[in-house]
Amino acid sequence: MILALETSCDETAAALVTEYGEVRANVVASQADLHARYGGVVPEVASRRHLELLLPVLREVQAEANATLDDVDRVAVTTGPGLIGALLVGLSAAKALAWARRLPLVPVDHLHGHVASLYLQPHAVEPPFLCLLASGGHSLLLDVRDHAGYGRVGTTLDDAAGEAFDKGARLLGLGYPGGAELDRLARDGDPEAYPFPVARVPGFDFSFSGLKTALLYAVRDLSADELERRRADLAASYQRAIVRALVERTEAAAEHLGADRIAVVGGVAANSELRAALPDAAKAPLALCTDNAAMIASAARYTEPVPYPGYLAVDAYASAG
Ligand code: KG4
Ligand code: ZN
Repeated sequence: MILALETSCDETAAALVTEYGEVRANVVASQADLHARYGGVVPEVASRRHLELLLPVLREVQAEANATLDDVDRVAVTTGPGLIGALLVGLSAAKALAWARRLPLVPVDHLHGHVASLYLQPHAVEPPFLCLLASGGHSLLLDVRDHAGYGRVGTTLDDAAGEAFDKGARLLGLGYPGGAELDRLARDGDPEAYPFPVARVPGFDFSFSGLKTALLYAVRDLSADELERRRADLAASYQRAIVRALVERTEAAAEHLGADRIAVVGGVAANSELRAALPDAAKAPLALCTDNAAMIASAARYTEPVPYPGYLAVDAYASAG
C-alpha cells in the first residue's frame, strides 16, 4: 500500500491507497474554521496546525483502513506548489516515516495529484483528455496525454476560479471559504438578473478580476435592504459568469487541441452549475475535488520513487515555476 500525506494549504490529509488505485482510507482534517475569521489562510497558523493534526490524522487513517505501517510499501507526499511552511511539515513527517522503515519516498506535485484524482477506483478515467483544474489556488487547462504528467495549455492571469468564488462570497456576506455556500445561495436566484462580464483574454487563459470588480460595484450601489433581497440573484449571476468563462475556454481549448474528452478536477469541480454545464465531461468524485491525500497517493503510482536513503535532501517548492 501507498501511504500519502498532503499538507500544501489548510487541509491536513493522509490516505492509504493500493497499487491498483483502491482507496482503503482517506482522512481530511480541514482547518477552514481556524482561518475563517481572517477571511483567508494564514500561512504560519496553517503550519502550526498541521503539526498538531498530523499524528492524529495518521492514527485515524490506519484505524480506518484496519492497517498499520507494516502494510506500507512506499510513502508519498506533496512537495509543491503550496505554502512552503505547510509543505515542509508534511515532507518532514513523510521523510521520517519512510526513513525509519527504510521505504522509498515519492515526491508528488500537487497539480498532478488533482489530475490523478481521476485515476482512482472504482470509476477510473484513462488519459488522454483535456483537464480543467479549478481550485482555490489554480485555474489551469492541462493537456493530459498519459498518467505520468500533464502539459500546460492555459492559466489564470489574476485570480484563480476558487478565489473568485471566495471573494464574491465575501462581498455577499457569506463565510470563508464561500464557494460551496455561494453555490447553494445561487440555486434560489436568477442567473440572468445581472449581466456580469466574461473576460476575453487572448489564448486559453482566464481572468476573473474584472468580474469581481463588477460584483463589488453592484453590491455597493444597493441599500442594505435591497442587497438582502437581491443576494441570491447576485450569487446566481456571478456564478453564471464564472462558469461560462470556465466552460467557454475549456471547450475552445479542447477543440483547438482536438481533444475528444474533457475532465474537471479541483475544489471548484464540486460546483453544481459547472458540473451541469459539462454533462459529458469526466468529473472527479465530489469527495476528491477539494484537497485530499488519496489523489496524492494516486499520482504516486505514476511517479518515480526515490529509493532509501537518498531522499533526505528532497525539498519543497512554493510555486510551480
Ligand atoms: O482544491 P481546493 O481544496 O484547494 C486548492 O488546491 O486551492 O479548492 C478549494 C476551493 C475554494 O476556493 C472553495 O471555495 C472552492 O474550491 N469550492 C467551490 C465549491 N466547493 C469548493 N467553489 C464553487 N462551488 C462549490 N460547490
Ligand atoms: Zn488543491
